[in-house]
Amino acid sequence: MSEYLIEVKNLCKKFPIKGGLFGREIGAVNAVNNVSFKIKKGETLGLVGESGCGKTTLGRSILRLIEPSSGEIIFNGKNIIDYTPAEMRAVRRKMQIIFQDPYASLNPRMTVGDILAEPMEIHGLHTDKVTRRKRLLELLNQVQLPSDALNKYPHEFSGGQRQRICIARALAVEPEFIVCDEPVSALDVSVQAQVVNLLMDLQKDLGLTFLFIAHDLKVVEYISNRVAVMYLGNMIEVAESSELYGHAKHPYTKALFSAIPHASTHGRAGRIILEGDIPSPMNPPNGCHFNPRCWNATDECRKSFPPITDQSGTHQFRCFNPIN
Ligand SMILES: Nc1ncnc2c1ncn2[C@@H]1O[C@H](COP(=O)(O)OP(=O)(O)OP(=O)(O)O)[C@@H](O)[C@H]1O
Ligand SMILES: [Mg+2]
Repeated sequence: MSEYLIEVKNLCKKFPIKGGLFGREIGAVNAVNNVSFKIKKGETLGLVGESGCGKTTLGRSILRLIEPSSGEIIFNGKNIIDYTPAEMRAVRRKMQIIFQDPYASLNPRMTVGDILAEPMEIHGLHTDKVTRRKRLLELLNQVQLPSDALNKYPHEFSGGQRQRICIARALAVEPEFIVCDEPVSALDVSVQAQVVNLLMDLQKDLGLTFLFIAHDLKVVEYISNRVAVMYLGNMIEVAESSELYGHAKHPYTKALFSAIPHASTHGRAGRIILEGDIPSPMNPPNGCHFNPRCWNATDECRKSFPPITDQSGTHQFRCFNPIN
């Protein structure tokens, strides 16, 4: 058995843009462009990048909640890209997702007990009444909610508690892999740490593997073993957290991380301000997509798309002119 739970190879997702009188295809957004990465069992890969760079599209495409345009998704040694809906059902039990908004993702008319029982119902788990109830109480206990939560409705809970309900719902089917799409971004800062710590404890206890998407680079550094950076649909750099935060090779990563305040530099003294806006993903610039904003860009960067450089097998980046 491979040490990797999930291996993504050359994954692409194009969204066609339709327009005109007859709704013909007039272009496409390359939301995810030739992305490859692996996640080991029990590991957390953080995923960062500016709004619209394709993080959510990538996360959902891996679970085939959005159909990828091409590529391979190897989960537990099997390529699931061509699995039929029936085959996907069995795999989906092992791959779950937690969303950013714990308000929108819970049905307000269902009790917490029914919300947690629904995925078990779909997958035919714990079908008799006694074991079902036992499992429901176990789930509440795992996410540190009281057992009387079973008969309550989502509106009776705070944002942090609702996110715990969403986590319990994801755990209900005993997954191995969870895509966490900005799971704490909508929560108060004081609550964020509790939910992040809960996710880390659950990961340890249950041997979970995470793809953790977030804007907050501090949170990502805290929870992730390795971190990947996306820019305009491309994965431009991946490395161990400490390596990436300390020795970024790609100028975009460097600029992104320079925005984190450090006590030693009294705030944002070392901050790199990028010129210009993010280009449209419908019409990306030639060569390296970052070149119009890059202070290190050369003629080569304007002409060719940089291949992946693999430094000692643990640090990959797409840049012709990396930072030393
Ligand atoms: N259903 C869709 N149809 C057309 N374009 C889409 C669709 N979903 C996403 N896109 C486009 O794909 C690109 C990537 O979007 P995505 O939501 O994956 O970004 P993101 O990195 O998750 O952003 P954020 O940080 O704001 O959540 C964007 O340009 C977006 O407009
Ligand atoms: Mg998103």
